[in-house]
Amino acid sequence: MKVSVKTPATIANLGPGFDSFGLALPLYNIVSVEETVLPGSGIEINIINEKNNEENNIADVPTDKNNIVYKAIELLHNFIGQSPNELKITIKTQIPISRGLGSSASVIVGGLIAANELLGRPADEKVLMSIATEIEGHPDNITPAFVGGMTMASWEEDGSIFYRKLPWHDDWKLMVCIPDYELNTEISRSVLPKEVALKDAVFNLKRSAMFIDALYNQDDELLKLALKDKLHQPYREKLVPGLSDIIKNLKHTNGVLGAVLCGAGPSVLVIYNGVGASEIKETVTETWNYFNVKSTFLNLPIEKQGAQIL
Ligand code: HSE
Repeated sequence: MKVSVKTPATIANLGPGFDSFGLALPLYNIVSVEETVLPGSGIEINIINEKNNEENNIADVPTDKNNIVYKAIELLHNFIGQSPNELKITIKTQIPISRGLGSSASVIVGGLIAANELLGRPADEKVLMSIATEIEGHPDNITPAFVGGMTMASWEEDGSIFYRKLPWHDDWKLMVCIPDYELNTEISRSVLPKEVALKDAVFNLKRSAMFIDALYNQDDELLKLALKDKLHQPYREKLVPGLSDIIKNLKHTNGVLGAVLCGAGPSVLVIYNGVGASEIKETVTETWNYFNVKSTFLNLPIEKQGAQIL
């Protein structure tokens, strides 16, 4: 038996909500898991890039027992007191890797839901989210990958995930600006301080509160104020040259509500109210050109649906 699961890309943080806020995008990875008789180590992992439909063992992505999808499936088996049998895992990717678009969360969630189906659903959403977060290290991409839409999530001290779906105003459009280089999340987290100044914590606390109120009240002006951060973006600037210039240069562009780093970067998300798309692209292209960075753009709505079994 084979189970396939389609899971959306995600963007985490959204400015002030470091490791908490996330939203889903209509761009997908499909993970298929099947139990089969295999020679050798007993696992086979194939990664296929959907763009060119080639078997593409993307460099740096392990295809052995160190693969994150396998590790997640192994944790699920351990949860029910078993070890995985021989498994064939196929990952069809549409989501660019190491660009801050939640590709790892997407495959972890897809693999776990598929394996859980194969096992006869021993784990509920709560358990699957906890296992996924244990592998990923933070819940902000995992949660919208599971349930879609805009979410806030907390990895509680007992290992459980507490989350809520938040409203998203249909008029708020997303322009995802993707630079032509990858940034590993581990490296991007390594530049963050272990402790932050109280005034910076308070700055983000206020912005997170404003963000949620702006979402519930569809308040453009409050969202503009809210889309700011002092906990991670300033430290990541050296890994994402041009980030603060893009934010500054877009500030007075008609229709722009704000620009933030996508997760750990290096992509940048511009939230705008539907006008000025070409001006946004032009400004970002020119700003990154100055830093010798080429860019591509995805103009996408939010994905309201989460992971789906195909
Ligand atoms: N909240 C995480 C970070 C997201 O900023 O490191 C990583 O995708």
